[in-house]
Amino acid sequence: MHISAIAGKWLILPVPAHVALGPMMNLMRVPNAGRNWEGGGGDPFLSGELAFETVTGIQSSGAQACAKHYINNEQEHFRDSSSSIVDDRTQHELYLHPFLRSVQANVASVMCSYSEYFSCVAIINGSFSCENDKTLNGLLKGELGFQGYVMSDWWATHSGASAVNAGLDMTMPGDETYESGTTYFGQNLINAVNSGQVSQDRITDLATRILAAWYLLGQDSGFPAVNFDSWTPSQGQHIDVSGSHASLIRTIDAASTVLLKNVDGTLPLSKPKTIGIIGNGAGSNSQGPNGGPVDAITTRAKQDGTTVTSSLSDTDLTGAANAASGKDIAFVFITADSGEGYITVEGNAGDRNDLSAWHGGDALVAQVAKSNKNTVVVVNSVGPINTEAWVNHPNVTAIVWSGVPGQEAGNGLVDVLYGSYSPSGRLPFTIGKSTSDYSTQLVTSGSGIVPIPYNEGLFIDYRHFDQANIAPRFEFGFGLSYTTFNYSNLKISGSTAGGTRQPNGPGASLDPWLHDPVVTVTFTLTNTGQVDGMEIPQLYTSPPASAKSAPNNLKGFDSVFLAVGASTTVSFELSRYDFSVWNVVSQQWDIPSGVTGVSIGASSRDVRLKGSITN
Ligand SMILES: *[C@@H]1O[C@H](CO)[C@@H](O)[C@H](O)[C@H]1NC(C)=O
Ligand SMILES: *[C@@H]1O[C@H](CO)[C@@H](O)[C@H](O)[C@H]1NC(C)=O
Ligand SMILES: *[C@@H]1O[C@H](CO)[C@@H](O)[C@H](O)[C@H]1NC(C)=O
Repeated sequence: MHISAIAGKWLILPVPAHVALGPMMNLMRVPNAGRNWEGGGGDPFLSGELAFETVTGIQSSGAQACAKHYINNEQEHFRDSSSSIVDDRTQHELYLHPFLRSVQANVASVMCSYSEYFSCVAIINGSFSCENDKTLNGLLKGELGFQGYVMSDWWATHSGASAVNAGLDMTMPGDETYESGTTYFGQNLINAVNSGQVSQDRITDLATRILAAWYLLGQDSGFPAVNFDSWTPSQGQHIDVSGSHASLIRTIDAASTVLLKNVDGTLPLSKPKTIGIIGNGAGSNSQGPNGGPVDAITTRAKQDGTTVTSSLSDTDLTGAANAASGKDIAFVFITADSGEGYITVEGNAGDRNDLSAWHGGDALVAQVAKSNKNTVVVVNSVGPINTEAWVNHPNVTAIVWSGVPGQEAGNGLVDVLYGSYSPSGRLPFTIGKSTSDYSTQLVTSGSGIVPIPYNEGLFIDYRHFDQANIAPRFEFGFGLSYTTFNYSNLKISGSTAGGTRQPNGPGASLDPWLHDPVVTVTFTLTNTGQVDGMEIPQLYTSPPASAKSAPNNLKGFDSVFLAVGASTTVSFELSRYDFSVWNVVSQQWDIPSGVTGVSIGASSRDVRLKGSITN
């Protein structure tokens, strides 16, 4: 139901749409929530940077971006009949942050979410997210000073005057319910103005915001005619705007592949004589272009004279054993998918039922690993899966997390498997050893308005694993490379002291005093291995205990390409905001006084350099 085309295939001019409904930036609070794959994972900083870059990218093409889903829409069960209960500090530090970054990127529009009721402990009583004065007028248009417009998610508007007064500017797609022929806006809004329920000024404000976005993107002049209806794609003009995107997508596929295990240099491949390929995930996709690893591997294998044998079934264990046994190496592909609130996929109603690989993936891996002592597991999944059944199997010599890579899935994978791209991707979430290791579980039962208490507060994903001292299987930020990197010479300079802050009021959370860089962290990164490659160094802060924050908080990352033997200085700039916590009493960002640790590492747990700053 949503045109979440952040992959941007059709966003190159001529632009057929005024608004692209993305980026999606709800956090991976629950590991099996159905729409996690659309967002940036389990960390607000990471999601915020993705939001900033995606908004910038979409809007550079002439289309308006739409930051969604505002706010606290972190699971699909009961997404239109639940009340998310989130404390004020957690709201600011986790869930609001990606929207703050979107506003900083000049996002044209924000979409309010389905979650019918939303309530914030100590702030407001529950009210619909598209008519929530606190979140729309208060946080978004007030604290963040957002000057664009708020549109509803499809049929997430539940009133006219109340919604408009609370900050809703546009109701989408316009009718009250699907093809009802009635609307909360239109004549209803005229009546509300005539009866004094909605002020004329508010209507002017609403129209100004919508037109401001239109002018921001230059859509008032030379904009191509709308020529396509996503609801009836068979009609309208079909213009191929893909250009050279295949090669870009292939590069992105390779760069986002995460190597989780690689015993004794199993990968990259060096001219194997025989390869077995097992699993439906390696096959082509009857419904579109995503897939085809078996074709891509077979094409590449010919260069080395390698013989490829495949069994593209998830359930034919005899076929799997035959394809795997006696081969130099066997690749077994396993998958996990999910739906959306209104889409049930293979018995999974929106959210995933559990964290298991689908179609008996564990049994398939077990069968292949029993038959081949050099088994590589390739995972295509919408989020974390439980890998415990085989992760430490002695015959599973490599694990490749291939995510949801898109049309060049096969070619991007080949680039990693054969070493033309040294893997550099990192997990945007934690892979735990069991479902109960995560701090949050899906709410799957209830009636009426179902409360979804965010009782874990700040402690989602690695913040929880760190806080509760639980060893993850693979931690947030983890990923292996074909080369090695050395970190040295950490230097921290600058200070958060001084300056004058803006008083509370409109836009106070975007105060330059908060966001201007004041601290610089530098270190030397050296490629000490045997191949050229990219490293993703990460910066985490550890606030003083008095702040009651998580032990480690991502506040910076970079991707740095280095040839063998090369060194470079990597630099991170930190702002006062990066050191701040939300003060629920004074309703402003405060820097906790004391010593804040600053660590640089290759993952959230692989710390290479440690320093600190006293605030
Ligand atoms: C919330 O609602 C209850 C019951 O209607 C009311 O007593 C209370 O004052 C309200 N609190 C706020 C902060 O609006
Ligand atoms: C590993 O694979 C070999 C076949 O190459 C098999 O003989 C052996 O039993 C397997 N090991 C395990 C633990 O399954
Ligand atoms: C690697 O880093 C350490 C400090 O983290 C430093 O002592 C050592 O000299 C470095 N080695 C190389 C080869 O750069």
